[in-house]
Amino acid sequence: MTSKQTVNKCLFPVAGYGTRFLPATKSMPKEMLPIVNKPLMQYAVEEAMEAGINKMGFITGRGKRAIADYFDNNYELEHEIAGSSKAEHLNDINRVMDDGQFIFMRQREMLGLGHAILTGEAIIGREPFAVILADDLCVAPLQQTEVPRAMAQLIELYNKYQCCIVAIEEIPKADTGSYGIISGKEIEPGIYDVTDMIEKPKPEDAPTNMAIIGRYVLTPEIFDYLRETKPGTNGEVQITDALKQVAKEERVIAVKFAGQRFDCGSIPGFVEATNYFYEHEFKANQ
Ligand code: G1P
Repeated sequence: MTSKQTVNKCLFPVAGYGTRFLPATKSMPKEMLPIVNKPLMQYAVEEAMEAGINKMGFITGRGKRAIADYFDNNYELEHEIAGSSKAEHLNDINRVMDDGQFIFMRQREMLGLGHAILTGEAIIGREPFAVILADDLCVAPLQQTEVPRAMAQLIELYNKYQCCIVAIEEIPKADTGSYGIISGKEIEPGIYDVTDMIEKPKPEDAPTNMAIIGRYVLTPEIFDYLRETKPGTNGEVQITDALKQVAKEERVIAVKFAGQRFDCGSIPGFVEATNYFYEHEFKANQ
């Protein structure tokens, strides 16, 4: 186990088609859909930066070039709006571009989240790393400005336990078929030593209603486990199956993070996030 290394890199698996948002995603990556006026992708990168990470690795696919363009200059546009108040709208993304490094790698075949993460080994090497699924948009708890978003909370736990960490949330039992589900032993309030994990079980087969949401801190040994992981649910290589093995042989910790998550991979969650950001961020800053 590689210990006492800090987390400097975050992987963003972004190769998926986003079919639930067709036709919008026919020629545009789902991660570029905006919540009010900011793409999901930027929220995810900002969350990683808030957690002290500055190297961003994207596992992309065909049709996803708009993501790479987004984290680069657009001289023509910048020239057009230079000196006008419109230029201010680029301040946040310019700051993100200045503070981060952006690495893009193509996943030629989409064989599951586990396969996407394994593809990222070339970017990560042998160090611990974060994974953020941009579809799951996390916000800090309202009225508690001192509490950071989910990833910073996971990194704090990683620094304490030096093992793989996943974020979890209690979901309605009827929805277990959409998530990786964990069971575990509570070791601190809201923190569990994972004993089992199952990817997308039917409600009657789910051991609990504690669902993994798209935030992980992984140690580099995960790549060795992933290489051994056979395709599982939906014929895909599942990160959940690899982590189940890590939980058996080493340790995985699950944490009920503070804050709120919006499932922006679904239309109702996307609309809920839009309303939330319009109320709490956009209107508040006008
Ligand atoms: C993936 C993971 C699943 C996790 C979910 C969180 O599923 O496989 O374990 O609960 O992300 O959003 P997906 O939503 O990509 O089908």
